[in-house]
Amino acid sequence: MKHLSVFCLYALVILHCLDGVLPQAPSYGERGSDLGIQVFQQVVRSKPLENVVFSPHGVASILGMLLPGAHGETRKQIISALRYKKNGPYKMLRKLHKTLTTKSNQDAVLIANGIFSQEGFPMEASFVSTNKENFQSEARSLDFNNPEVAANEINEWVNNKTKGHISSLIKPDMLDPAMTRLVTVNSIYFKGLWKSRFQPTNTKMRPFKGGDGNEYSVPMMSQLSVFNIGMATTPQGLKYKVIELPYHGNTISMLIVLPSDEDTPLSRVVPHISTATVQSWTKLMRMRKVHLVIPRFTADAEVDLEAPLSALGITDMFSQVKADFRHISVEPVHVSRALQKAKIVVNEDGTKAAAATTAILLARSSPPWVTVDRPFLFLIRHNPTGTILFMGQINKP
Ligand SMILES: *[C@@H]1O[C@H](CO)[C@@H](O)[C@H](O)[C@H]1NC(C)=O
Repeated sequence: MKHLSVFCLYALVILHCLDGVLPQAPSYGERGSDLGIQVFQQVVRSKPLENVVFSPHGVASILGMLLPGAHGETRKQIISALRYKKNGPYKMLRKLHKTLTTKSNQDAVLIANGIFSQEGFPMEASFVSTNKENFQSEARSLDFNNPEVAANEINEWVNNKTKGHISSLIKPDMLDPAMTRLVTVNSIYFKGLWKSRFQPTNTKMRPFKGGDGNEYSVPMMSQLSVFNIGMATTPQGLKYKVIELPYHGNTISMLIVLPSDEDTPLSRVVPHISTATVQSWTKLMRMRKVHLVIPRFTADAEVDLEAPLSALGITDMFSQVKADFRHISVEPVHVSRALQKAKIVVNEDGTKAAAATTAILLARSSPPWVTVDRPFLFLIRHNPTGTILFMGQINKP
């Protein structure tokens, strides 16, 4: 009898969870993305009116690569900022990396991880093998005594891995001939094909009111189609629209966040974004037929991660005195530079997506227009894992 009642109680608790009383434990993709989103929030605080493109998942990846080498407080700070479990996060990270780089995503997402060490640097073999297992990282040795040649080699590697889309990541002066021992690189390139493509002939110059208050004439794509759209509110009561544009293959979507009131700057919405916020949009969104008008845009950005990561409690790894990477090498090392470079191209993506074009439904009454003609945020999300591959703010396309 006792067993039966315990079982019932357990069942009741589970029902509560499904009702949304208890939040679901975030996935590893979401945990990493949340730290990355916080870094983004730090970065745009000093650039409220610029275009910024950034990969939250990329930040988690580079920290995930360093993690097997870290010990003590250095390790603790990384683990706690990422909200990873203390023991054995690698199994989860391996699975995540595999899911993100699976064949069906391959055209859209290119992730390359590399470890470049100084020739003769006594690197622990287990550090290299763990990274190879988890993230398919490649390890190479270089001679940093010649920064020009070493930088070229790293840049060529990145260029190769991203099919020529990111051609320079490292500048020779970032490498110190006497001091540099190790460079870890994570690069992500994304180019998805819309599930429902935009007809290039529908792209027209239209006004866009930039974040600086000026009006610009920019190429705007448009289509009449069915999109998942919702209206959400920040805790301060600011309303914003969320529009989902799925990519071919259906696992990845772009989510566009557009403040409803023209006078709401992005800086009032950015602090509210997290993977939990994104998750909450799902319930607010409905399929609706609309005329969608959004700008075509290209943007790239390079972000120095040291200041934002330090502000988020990851400090020791940057300190000559405190950094503890004893599982990378017996020789004491610290992180002297942590950078990320991201790039995005958003256009009609005509031909290749043609087969996946959804039917354009003819309306009896004219569907509403949704026009993205003022600063907006975008998030590119791998839906099955909740991973935010990219996010950005566009103040002027
Ligand atoms: C880049 O690719 C080319 C052609 O496949 C190859 O010869 C070269 O060694 C590669 N460079 C690096 C740094 O991996």
